[in-house]
Amino acid sequence: MLRLFSALFLLFGLQRISASHWSYPDRDLNEAFPNWGGICDTGKRQSPINLSKDKSLKGVFDKLKFENFNERQNGVTLVNNGHSIVLSNFSKQMEVKGGPLLDEYVVEQLHLHWWSEHTINNMRYPLEVHIVSRNKRYANVSMATNFKEGLTVIGVLYHVSNERSEAIEQIIEHLQDVKDYEKLDQPAHMKQSFVVRQLFPKLNGYITYSGSLTTPSCAEAVTWIILSETFPVTLAQVDSFKDTHYEANKVLKSNYRDIQKSYNRPVIFVDDVVGAANHMQVSVGAIIFMFIAIKFM
Ligand SMILES: *[C@@H]1O[C@H](CO)[C@@H](O)[C@H](O)[C@H]1NC(C)=O
Ligand SMILES: *[C@@H]1O[C@H](CO)[C@@H](O)[C@H](O)[C@H]1NC(C)=O
Ligand SMILES: *[C@@H]1O[C@H](CO)[C@@H](O)[C@H](O)[C@H]1NC(C)=O
Ligand SMILES: [Zn+2]
Repeated sequence: MLRLFSALFLLFGLQRISASHWSYPDRDLNEAFPNWGGICDTGKRQSPINLSKDKSLKGVFDKLKFENFNERQNGVTLVNNGHSIVLSNFSKQMEVKGGPLLDEYVVEQLHLHWWSEHTINNMRYPLEVHIVSRNKRYANVSMATNFKEGLTVIGVLYHVSNERSEAIEQIIEHLQDVKDYEKLDQPAHMKQSFVVRQLFPKLNGYITYSGSLTTPSCAEAVTWIILSETFPVTLAQVDSFKDTHYEANKVLKSNYRDIQKSYNRPVIFVDDVVGAANHMQVSVGAIIFMFIAIKFM
C-alpha cells in the first residue's frame, strides 16, 4: 500500500513539474501561488528573494567582465515557451567572468519577467531581464543544474519611466510573431541585429547571492548577480508582454515567482564595477586634465 502511494506520489509529483504543466497564479483573482513540487517547495536556497543594499555584506572582488556583450548578434531567435519570452541562438559567443565567479560562463539565453521577481527593500519593479549563463565546465544547461556553481544569472531591473527602452522595444517588435497559442515553442528570427549590452547600458555595482532557478526544476545552481542600476521602461512596453498566450484564449498577465525565504543566506553588495562606460569617463577626465595641464604649462 505504501509502495502504491509512493508510486502515485512520484507520478503525480513528476507530472506537476513536467515542462508544460506548471503555471503562475492569476494575481488579479488572488490565486494562491501553486506548489511546483520537489526542491521548489523544500529547498533552502530558493530564488527570488527580497534584496536590500543596507542589509547586504560589503564585497570586493576582481572586476566583473562581460565579453562580447557589445557585439551585434544576428539571427537571434525569440520563443514563447508559455512561461516567458526567450531569446537565444546568439551568433557571437558571450561570456561572463570575474566578480564573484570562480569560473567562466557562456551566455545561453535571456528571458523576461513582467513585474520583477527580485524586490529591493520590498519594492517590485515592472520588468526583470534574466541573462542565463552556463559554467564552461559543464556540457549543457541541464548538466550544469546539478552543481551549485553551474549557472550564473545576471538580473536587470527596469523602473517605470516615460522613456522607452530601445532594446526592450526591439523584442516587442517581434512579439506579434510568437505571442499566439498556435505559435507556442516555435522560434521566430529577429530581423535586425541585437546588442545584449543595450539592455543595461550602465554598470553601477551589483548584489550577488547563491540561489536557484525561479522556474521548475528550481535547481539550486545559480550565482545571482543583480545589477544595482535600474533602467527605464514604459508601462505601455511592459503591457505588450501581457498579451503573450500560454493556452488558447489565456494570456500570461504576469510571470513572477513569490519571494522565497532567505534562511540567512549571505547577500553581498559590490560597488566597484568598472565597465566600458566608466573607462570612457576616465578618459574624458584624463583629457580635461591634460587640457588644464597644457594651459598651465
Ligand atoms: C541560429 O542562427 C543561425 C545564424 O547565426 C541560423 O543559421 C540558424 O538557423 C539559427 N538556428 C535556429 C535553431 O534558429
Ligand atoms: C525586505 O527588505 C526590507 C528592507 O530590508 C525589509 O524591511 C523587509 O522586511 C524585507 N521583506 C521581506 C519579505 O523579507
Ligand atoms: C548534456 O550533456 C550530457 C553529458 O555530455 C549528455 O549526456 C546529455 O544528453 C546532454 N543533455 C542535453 C539536453 O543535451
Ligand atoms: Zn528568469
